[in-house]
Amino acid sequence: MLEVIPSGKILGATVAGLNLAQPLSEANFTAVQSALGAHGVLRFPKQQLTAQQLVDFSARFGKLEINVANSYQEPGLPEIMILSNMLENGKPIGMSDAGQSWHTDMSYSRTIAFANVLYGIKIPRRNGKTLGNTEFCSMHAAYDGLPDELKRQLEGKTVLHDFNKFWEMMRREKGSTRPPLTEAQRKAKPPVSHPIFLTHPLTGRKVLYANPGYSMRINELPEKESDDLLAFLFEHQTQPAYRYAHEWHEGDLMLWEDIGTIHNAVADYGPHEHRLIKRCQVMASVFGDDFAQ
Ligand SMILES: [Fe+2]
Repeated sequence: MLEVIPSGKILGATVAGLNLAQPLSEANFTAVQSALGAHGVLRFPKQQLTAQQLVDFSARFGKLEINVANSYQEPGLPEIMILSNMLENGKPIGMSDAGQSWHTDMSYSRTIAFANVLYGIKIPRRNGKTLGNTEFCSMHAAYDGLPDELKRQLEGKTVLHDFNKFWEMMRREKGSTRPPLTEAQRKAKPPVSHPIFLTHPLTGRKVLYANPGYSMRINELPEKESDDLLAFLFEHQTQPAYRYAHEWHEGDLMLWEDIGTIHNAVADYGPHEHRLIKRCQVMASVFGDDFAQ
């Protein structure tokens, strides 16, 4: 029997009693989707999944993205991206610095992300403490917490998002091995605009849809005013009151939705503290044209 145990925090719940190596029944799928709306971030502990089973579970929630950064895909399964700092024969087996700053996946894409599915295979620990947490902020709370006057001012406005902003920010980090995006990669991901407030498809409530990683500009405002307001929004949306930290355990399958949350991969482990996570991304096209322009 499936059991949803809320974290008691602003986001997060553990879903116990499911073996995700088996196909989800309709009833369990509905229960998981509803828990995802209620809690944003779900943990399914103690899973043992093959790469194909990870893809099959993820694909229940919508069409899967094949990422433009294609160097670290699972052999034969391009829907899976490998996130790791491990080496094999001196070569990295995965992307080592994925997501190490506040962002939401695929806001830079015409079809935005609905959900992320991450499977934790190797999790670093030091002196009994788990390293490499994934932190989240609630964008339902961020919207609700905006002053009414600002909600009115920003209603109907749009934000420009650019994949290259986050990529370049990561390249400037010490020790980054990311090459600049090629012309072809940049052409494949030109900047796109989305409404600054979205109505969340699972909750029917408004969320703030902007993030420090990809958001460049509020299109309808003069540049200076846009810069000032975005700086305010980035500070506002990442305030401690809206945060939740997930501490990984090996065998955790994490499912979170990307429309009502932003996240940050905490980079507090060294190159010899091994981490291996496999990831699928579910696109929001399943919810129609508002999310897939
Ligand atoms: Fe991410």
